[in-house]
Amino acid sequence: MAVAEFINKILRGDCLEVMKKFEKGAIDMVLTSPPYDNLRNYKGYVFPFEDIAREIYRVVKDGGVVVWVVGDATIDGSETGTSFKQALFFKEIGFKLHDTMIFKKKNPIPQIYRRRYNNEFEYMFVFSKGQVATHNPLMVDCLHAGLELNGTTYKNYSKHEQKRAKMAKPVKDQKIKGNIWEYVVGKKLEDQEAKGHPAPFPCELARDHIYSWSNKGNLILDPMCGSGTTCKVARQLDRNFIGIEISQEYCEIARKRISCLQLELPLSRTSVQ
Ligand SMILES: C[S@@+](CC[C@H](N)C(=O)[O-])C[C@H]1O[C@@H](n2cnc3c(N)ncnc32)[C@H](O)[C@@H]1O
Repeated sequence: MAVAEFINKILRGDCLEVMKKFEKGAIDMVLTSPPYDNLRNYKGYVFPFEDIAREIYRVVKDGGVVVWVVGDATIDGSETGTSFKQALFFKEIGFKLHDTMIFKKKNPIPQIYRRRYNNEFEYMFVFSKGQVATHNPLMVDCLHAGLELNGTTYKNYSKHEQKRAKMAKPVKDQKIKGNIWEYVVGKKLEDQEAKGHPAPFPCELARDHIYSWSNKGNLILDPMCGSGTTCKVARQLDRNFIGIEISQEYCEIARKRISCLQLELPLSRTSVQ
């Protein structure tokens, strides 16, 4: 069976079984967030992580990227470390660990004080199958834009003061964004649509990753799509998507979220500029 028949659909099922129907290398990019330990009670999921990771490796194209957004539960006073174990497993099966990024929450849930600092971030592991094929970097303004560094003296770690041999250029207006990304969680109107799902990630997070690691017309897979955030944003950015979700209830939320989008025609790289 070819992947074409699943394009721009939310498929109800176990992602392991559904992905087996896809041909090898059919997917340009995966953006997903798995169930975190037993932190939340999703509707009766099964989660054979290692089999799912191997299947993801099979369906992703050479040069494709997988963004895995994950956090750990704290059990009996210790963080489980599941996120790291998963990251190392992805490496074992052939992915490169391209970047360990941080999803910092501007409005983290306050926690009961248990002799530790409030948890306010999750990991966003970026894996690549071989060399990353697409990177459209997000840019930010430089704090010291335009500053002339001419003639500045500086000290490095040698004992003596040193003069720059070459004149430095003025500081650029913009630079590539760093790998800690901050978002407000659950408050924006576009995120409110996901109400009814216990753990959606922000649309803005999906937008930033999909823009960064794919091009228009590409096929984006979310194998555990929950409320359909990845799918909705992918389509808004002129990409195609496939969403898989095991819970019927969450599938309905996802389908409702994408119902206002024009989905009939799968987009190709040449049909969109
Ligand atoms: C952290 S949530 C994803 C939330 C999603 N990123 C969003 O924005 O709504 C993880 C989802 O994985 C689903 N799930 C768990 N095991 C699954 C499986 N084997 N196949 C498909 N979906 C699964 C759960 O029902 C849950 O909705």
